[in-house]
Amino acid sequence: MRIGLLGFGTVGKGVYELTAPRNDIQVVKVLCRRELTLPDAQVTHDFNDILNDDTIDTVVEVIGGLHPAWEYVKAAIEAGKNVVTANKALVAHYYDELLPLANAKGVSVRCTASVGGGIGWLSELERVRRCETVSRVGGIMNGTCNYILDSMTRLDLEYADVLRNAQVLGYAEADPSTDVDGIDTWHKLIVSANIAFGISLDIDAIPAAGISKITRDDVAMFRRKGYTCKLMSAAQVAEGFYSAYVQPTLVENGALEAAVPMNYNLITLQGNTSGRQSFFGQGAGRYPTAYNVVQDCVDILAGRGFYCPYGVKVAVLNDKRLRYYVRGAKDAWLQSQKQESWGEAIVTKPVRVDEMHAWLKKNPDAFIAALPEKN
Ligand SMILES: NC(=O)c1ccc[n+]([C@@H]2O[C@H](COP(=O)([O-])OP(=O)(O)OC[C@H]3O[C@@H](n4cnc5c(N)ncnc54)[C@H](OP(=O)(O)O)[C@@H]3O)[C@@H](O)[C@H]2O)c1
Repeated sequence: MRIGLLGFGTVGKGVYELTAPRNDIQVVKVLCRRELTLPDAQVTHDFNDILNDDTIDTVVEVIGGLHPAWEYVKAAIEAGKNVVTANKALVAHYYDELLPLANAKGVSVRCTASVGGGIGWLSELERVRRCETVSRVGGIMNGTCNYILDSMTRLDLEYADVLRNAQVLGYAEADPSTDVDGIDTWHKLIVSANIAFGISLDIDAIPAAGISKITRDDVAMFRRKGYTCKLMSAAQVAEGFYSAYVQPTLVENGALEAAVPMNYNLITLQGNTSGRQSFFGQGAGRYPTAYNVVQDCVDILAGRGFYCPYGVKVAVLNDKRLRYYVRGAKDAWLQSQKQESWGEAIVTKPVRVDEMHAWLKKNPDAFIAALPEKN
């Protein structure tokens, strides 16, 4: 396999290093914006040098973002090249174009590193689907949010102080919004659910609530009530109806999710034969992520393309009713849903997930967290 590597940042450099000793996979050209020289690959600032090189059969995209990543990936597929990407935003947003295009061109596309970094989550989902039906996927998919919530819980700190520590330690970006607003988790949920269920979810109907409004007092209240707060994703199929959402969620202190420390992930599937399977590990980092990129290259060499056939587009119906902890705004609708008070916050009666998120959109300074389903 001769690779054109797009991007030489955290993951790109890792891919270059992990492939360097291999005989079967070689990075031959690297697209980069900086001045760089490499001992055994040509560095270019022009994507066309990779696109027009017929000796390159595979493009590895690790520049991130939607543009120009999508234009590059699309052009590479149209030119008959395989694509491996770690870019969850790209896969989530362009799923409906990416897969039909790859099928039409007869090339392979894989994206294992895009969800869970070095965890073999998507590749195992592929194996699970060979033997059983998956009814539920989700969990803790963002290490930055888990680091913040875990530190607030264990060390009794304010959100802003923990975020600052996370930035110093490299667990959070200078602009953390994609992580703390739940967007990164939202991308990962979409990719996971599409693959698990073999469909394409209507992404506009999948809401995401983040953690940026959580306070030390909220966490203290959860502690008193025996709960730990985690940013959780959930997608489910029941009787042909699909639900999917991302939201802060209270888990009981004895639950597996409550024990997930630092920047770790815990991603779970529910299979009709194997039952619950959970995947724990570091969802990011140079070498874990590059490892899964290289695994995808090896899979393509072994003839494995995308994890499942492209499925039909389906609607999302978030009509499940959950109880929510809500703090920071009180209007007539919220008052009408009130079941009890927890300090300044209220806990609602069971309300529809889509209604709660619609309310939050109109009250963006509020903080919500779903209570465990059995409550
Ligand atoms: N980091 C992780 O642990 C991790 C885990 C899982 C998935 N991912 C995904 O992997 C992808 C890459 O992440 P990363 O952490 O490696 O990002 P990164 O460190 O920011 O690296 C991206 C690299 O791409 C380069 N780049 C950006 N736009 C470019 C363009 N138009 N032409 C050429 N080069 C360009 C950047 O160049 P400059 O240096 O000039 O800006 C940078 O070196 C993202 O999609 C991310 O979501 C990352």
